[in-house]
Amino acid sequence: MRDYICRAGITGLSTSIPEKVLTNYDLEKMVETSDDWINARTGIKERRIVENDKTTCDLACEAGQNALENAGIGPEELDLVIVATNTPDMIFPATACLVQDRIGAVNAGAFDLLAGCTGFIYGLTVGQQYVAAGAYDKVLVIGAETLSKIINWKDRNTCVLFGDGAGAAVVQQVPREYGIISSVLGSDGSGGKLLKLPAGGSKLPASEETVRQGLHYVDMSGREVFKFAVRAMGEGTRKALSKAGMGSEDLDLLIPHQANIRIIDTAAKKAGIDMDRVLVNVDRFGNTSTASVPIALCEAVEQGKIKRGDNIVMVGFGAGLTWASLLMTWY
Ligand code: UT7
Repeated sequence: MRDYICRAGITGLSTSIPEKVLTNYDLEKMVETSDDWINARTGIKERRIVENDKTTCDLACEAGQNALENAGIGPEELDLVIVATNTPDMIFPATACLVQDRIGAVNAGAFDLLAGCTGFIYGLTVGQQYVAAGAYDKVLVIGAETLSKIINWKDRNTCVLFGDGAGAAVVQQVPREYGIISSVLGSDGSGGKLLKLPAGGSKLPASEETVRQGLHYVDMSGREVFKFAVRAMGEGTRKALSKAGMGSEDLDLLIPHQANIRIIDTAAKKAGIDMDRVLVNVDRFGNTSTASVPIALCEAVEQGKIKRGDNIVMVGFGAGLTWASLLMTWY
């Protein structure tokens, strides 16, 4: 492994979780589905949905500000704000710029990062490079989504899966024996068609026709994405460990992208990790895309499931298709 000037790690964490709960029973009244089907096929029981007047920026700011407080630093100390999201407030300007302004990060650069649900792990890897290279001291990485706004609530194939939320992490230098040890980023653009939002970009600008056809909603080939996901998450976990010269026995906790309990189960098995060492909260939040890994990480820390010195791997997959994994020793 190449050497950096210093080790980068997470020094502050927080989340923003909408109050409104939408249960499988609520969905039974909206589309032809059942709590039994959703639970058996996905492990999801309920998810959180934002109020109509709230945006991704609102959730991102709440999570970001609390993460700064958790790290004990002020917004003006930040060098960079990265927002990973698939549901920016607008196509442009970047939601990260809106966040940078609202939280008062007056000395920071800001950009959005688009890597499907894998965005937060991509963002952490980018943030790590700046800190470990000595270019920046403090980077705020946020995963934030209001997926409820781009879901077709009449399409049972997708509307039962997703939820809203945000999670944020402050990345800073940590002592050499802690922090991010390895990360792997992957992409297979040939699968881009399997998970997309067809209209609203330069290929298919928004028009009355695109709206009539519902092309501004999430479009997914679930079964194909499922196959990619189990392979990518299993291999991703093993690659992050082997790049750091570790094996599955060295891992204390796996934080997988929370899309589907069957994907998590199979991926963990493929990586040789028993479910006692896997964080699962998909039952309560559904798939919150870029927010899922930081929300799960934050829960694990708050519940005492991660302590200083533990080796943890975050692994995810998503639209692109992308996948990524990251191994760190918790500080
Ligand atoms: O972050 C990345 C986001 N994407 C994902 O994580 C998606 C990965 N894929 C999956 O999680 C699974 O493929 C799903 C949960 C989406 C679907 O599970 P599946 O076991 O692959 O089901 P399926 O798509 O093969 O559908 C089986 C049946 C179909 O009926 P027929 O054709 O067998 O009669 C569907 O129409 O289940 C039907 N179905 C439903 N039934 C009740 C699909 N959605 C529902 C529903 N309620 N909500």
